[in-house]
Amino acid sequence: MAAPVAENNQQAGNPAQWSSRFAFIMAAVGSAVGLGNIWKFPYITGENGGGAFVLVYLACIAVIGLPLMMAEVMLGRRGGKSPIGTMTSVAASEERSKGWAGIGIMATLAAFLILSFYSVIAGWTMPYILSAVSGDFSGIAAEESGALFGGLLASPGELLLWHSIFMGLTVLVSAGGVRHGLERAVTKLMPALFVLLLILVGYAMTTGHFGEAVSFLFKPDFSALTAEAILVALGHAFFTLSLASGAMMAYGAYLKKDVPIARTSVVVAIMDTGVALLAGLAIFPIVFAHGLEPGAGPGLIFVTLPVAFGQMAGGSFFATLFFVLLLFAAWTSSISMLESLVSYLNEKGVSRVKAAVGGGLVAWLVGVTTVLSLNEWSGFTPLDMFARFEGKTLFDLYDYLTANIMMPLGALLTAVFVGWKMKPEHSAAELGGWHRLWFPIIRYLSPIALLIVFYFNLK
Ligand code: PFF
Repeated sequence: MAAPVAENNQQAGNPAQWSSRFAFIMAAVGSAVGLGNIWKFPYITGENGGGAFVLVYLACIAVIGLPLMMAEVMLGRRGGKSPIGTMTSVAASEERSKGWAGIGIMATLAAFLILSFYSVIAGWTMPYILSAVSGDFSGIAAEESGALFGGLLASPGELLLWHSIFMGLTVLVSAGGVRHGLERAVTKLMPALFVLLLILVGYAMTTGHFGEAVSFLFKPDFSALTAEAILVALGHAFFTLSLASGAMMAYGAYLKKDVPIARTSVVVAIMDTGVALLAGLAIFPIVFAHGLEPGAGPGLIFVTLPVAFGQMAGGSFFATLFFVLLLFAAWTSSISMLESLVSYLNEKGVSRVKAAVGGGLVAWLVGVTTVLSLNEWSGFTPLDMFARFEGKTLFDLYDYLTANIMMPLGALLTAVFVGWKMKPEHSAAELGGWHRLWFPIIRYLSPIALLIVFYFNLK
């Protein structure tokens, strides 16, 4: 049986600790960069009119997301345990109610629920890699591409297969532990991902429509901005930075004392944002070059891009690169979703292998209901009696519950805890000189902004 996570993660050579600042950055960026950046960001930007939405999103990252990330990493390192263990021990050392452990419990549940459906979507990349390699996209028309995607979603067996393989990959890394599993995977996969992305942006520059994409992404047209879009931007800022789901707290617990948290978090947020923008710069020129629709929605990269790849020289190669990239990105995120639970079980004496396999199995089982929501159970909308949930399948409900309720609520509670309940000297000891800037933001600005979001969201 593997040793439980050490009481004190600060011993030299501790296998339950990142070996370097670089390893932490790769792990945290690996968690942050995922389907959110490459699949979701481009399509929600397309749906919400481009530049103005991007600007609001950047503001949400800088003003709310980044300070919260610093708070979570700081709490994680102070507690040195799983998110549940960390919140329990930090609340105790601050002489606050045990109830604050609820932040850790909700984060662990949110991450677990996200993992269950994330694995299903991430699974889609694998049949796309196979189709790309075998040249299936060559010359494909928009209807055929739509039918291909529709066919995949309509087939529970196929979805189940890819979902199972993806969950297996996640469990495999997680079971390996912090240094031998997580760190080894992220320090190889993340640099590969950056190279792949740059190759794709390089290609997009040759399409003759790069300038059009740049102005779509960066020229704000505020008339295209709606109140709903602002909520979408904020929700996405949490999701893309892996906040309020324990990932950053769990990873912070494996961070050495001498790594500067604030500066490192800034690097992570910049890299995450950079990847989202680069993904936009890789995708939109291709979309525009082929006269396709930027607002196509969730199918943007699965329906639209294959058409574009099918028309370009070397399309099979670039399509393969693209979907491999997406798979890597999703994989380094999913392992961080499982970490909150695995580290908690590990603390309770369950071995890492058993915790990863058990957690993965239950998440897989919940994921099966998402698979079915896309086809056999697409008419099963159990909460129709509430107007807010009308017409939502189980998958829609998991997504709504995590993104619109659990994550903003967890973020609000975290901001209140570190801003009002924790002694400022304690947070200052972790954050150094940045504390003076960070503290008023997390104490006043973040909670107010989050309350406004709740008001509009639940109104
Ligand atoms: N940040 C990931 C993405 O953008 O795809 C999603 C995510 C990872 C959410 C880890 C939550 C989490 F704990």
